[in-house]
Amino acid sequence: MDLVIRSADAVQVVHGSNSKCTKRGLGTFEIFDWDGGFSLETIMDSDIHRERRRIWDRAQNPQAMAHYEICTRKAVRTWLAKVASVEGEAIEMSKAMLLVAFDNMGQIGFSKEFGATQKGEGTRWIHLMGALLEQIAILGGLTWPTLVARSLEGLGKFGPLKDALEFNDISKDFAHERLDVSTSSLSLRLAENVTNRTQRDDPALHDIMKYFIDDYKSENPKSFVRDTDLYTDTQTILIAATDTSAATLTWLFYYLTIHPEIKSQLVSEISTARSQTAESGEFLDADLAHLPYLNAVINETLRIKPVGGNNSPRLTPPEGIVVDGTWIPGQVQVVIPIWALCRYEKYFERPLDFVPERWTTKPEMVKDKRAFIPFNHGRWSCAGKKLAMMLMRLVVAYTVTDFDFGFAEAEDGAAIVRDTKDVTLVKPGELRLRFTRRSA
Ligand code: HEM
Repeated sequence: MDLVIRSADAVQVVHGSNSKCTKRGLGTFEIFDWDGGFSLETIMDSDIHRERRRIWDRAQNPQAMAHYEICTRKAVRTWLAKVASVEGEAIEMSKAMLLVAFDNMGQIGFSKEFGATQKGEGTRWIHLMGALLEQIAILGGLTWPTLVARSLEGLGKFGPLKDALEFNDISKDFAHERLDVSTSSLSLRLAENVTNRTQRDDPALHDIMKYFIDDYKSENPKSFVRDTDLYTDTQTILIAATDTSAATLTWLFYYLTIHPEIKSQLVSEISTARSQTAESGEFLDADLAHLPYLNAVINETLRIKPVGGNNSPRLTPPEGIVVDGTWIPGQVQVVIPIWALCRYEKYFERPLDFVPERWTTKPEMVKDKRAFIPFNHGRWSCAGKKLAMMLMRLVVAYTVTDFDFGFAEAEDGAAIVRDTKDVTLVKPGELRLRFTRRSA
């Protein structure tokens, strides 16, 4: 790593729409190569990235989002049933939230029911995903050992690479499984002579993969040209979507637990949105999206514990860049660390205190909003922000209004902080909470 720049000015210069910095590092993205194919997250060429990104964005059109909301509500309802079934017992939130996010992504991403929340355990895929992120973190910027090891035939059968290869195999099978389902229903529909695009929209298969597969099967694919393109982005859906949302939700419940006054205010606000425009007893994300305090609590969690951590590097253009009046030469790898920016007293008053009001009634506590980049900024910013916000709003709204909660026996909130690890993403330690149903 060459240069870490903790500056709000650098956010615009390096990530802004006019920036000439490229997404390139010293092997950081290359290690994700899959027979020459890259995922949205690791595509380095701007034009190729733009095409792939368009398809990701299309997968979150309003109609698709309305369908995903039904899936998310289902995942949340399963979580609520689980909580009710173990009422009064300790629930380890880091794991529980990961399972909820995983189930949610199974539905939204692949029309697949993982059933992880109900079983109380994830699949092998979750384990491998965690192992992979840890390996990348251990190597840090030192990526050449992975590249060399991968090129040596047979070495992949041993050590850390074994998990990575197994992760690849499972993802590949998974992409094919989804592709086969789609192919069989496509051939069925073709047999019925139903070829027009709208009629081909089988609601049961309305997921993110549908948009990838639509492109892959089209006469002139724009981005999903080879099988490997489907494999890489299958992995991206899961890696990018699950740990990130889960970690943020875990922290959010932690902060509500240690700040009962914030929890009370939040519950009062959210209760007003129940059945507002949704059917009786339900929440609609469109209503929740307008609740200032709920969104402030989520923003404050994203600020104080931004899971993006150090963020990925960019390379300066040949002529260099100027940040805060200082010239940085060309071909320098630069990192704009999300964690350090969001928690910097230069940009946020009392940065280490959890104060949702800085996003509502106390705007003076945000000295420079440019430093708030939990989803990063610019053309490589998070492609799943809408999905993440929807999941977080729905999980929080239903959970805090149906249940009250506090630390479980022998829990003091120390482990979540003490055992937080930066494993590419910043993952919290364990947090045991105990839930009790609120009286109606
Ligand atoms: C609280 C939840 C989330 C946070 C804080 C978060 C944060 C981020 C950040 C910081 C980046 C930029 C990384 C970089 O520049 O290298 C990113 C990229 C990305 N995220 Fe998220 N993310 C979240 C949830 C999601 C979800 C639910 C999805 C859905 C699949 C998702 C999909 C992606 C993708 C595909 C990229 C790569 C975008 C690109 O390169 O064009 N994320 N995310």
